[in-house]
Amino acid sequence: MLDFKTSERKLQSALSIERYIHTMGVVKAAEKLAKRYGADVEKARYAALLHDCAKDYPPDMKRRFCKEYHVPVDDIMLKTIDLTHAFLGAEVARREYLVEDEEILGAIKYHTTGKKNMTLLEKIIFIADYIEEGRKKFDTLEESRKIAFEDIDKAMAFILEHTIEYVKQRNRPLHPLSVEAYEYYKSISEGK
Ligand SMILES: [Fe+2]
Ligand SMILES: [Fe+2]
Repeated sequence: MLDFKTSERKLQSALSIERYIHTMGVVKAAEKLAKRYGADVEKARYAALLHDCAKDYPPDMKRRFCKEYHVPVDDIMLKTIDLTHAFLGAEVARREYLVEDEEILGAIKYHTTGKKNMTLLEKIIFIADYIEEGRKKFDTLEESRKIAFEDIDKAMAFILEHTIEYVKQRNRPLHPLSVEAYEYYKSISEGK
């Protein structure tokens, strides 16, 4: 694995300024969440740093790299090629940033769709991506920020619910992993 500083420099040339600023916001939020829930802070910072490493690849480049790096592209991802950036990002992190840690790679891979039964680090990156300080204000942002530090599974259910609503409103295809994740975290947090 490249060290944090080297990765940061390498990343800067792959991301737009806006995305880079967003990324540093996610690093900060992930660090706070890791401290709150007793996760490995260095892993959280590193996963956050690389979570969007493939996001700014143009669509053709995403398609080409998915092929080259053997990233499976399902029907939903074919329709919304941007959705591949998380799965592809994990492969880019492995091959170009030399990350071998499966926990970090998993957190990059599932930061957009989520899935059921996520690891603590996966949940931290998913939530940090949503609540980072640079996000433009929207209705449920403040509430998400509050719940994020109270109960991590409730935060997952809350964020997934509102993400799914947002996707539906815009008539965008909804990934089955997100639906599965929502049902999972909804039932977990209701059982608490
Ligand atoms: Fe992303
Ligand atoms: Fe992001």
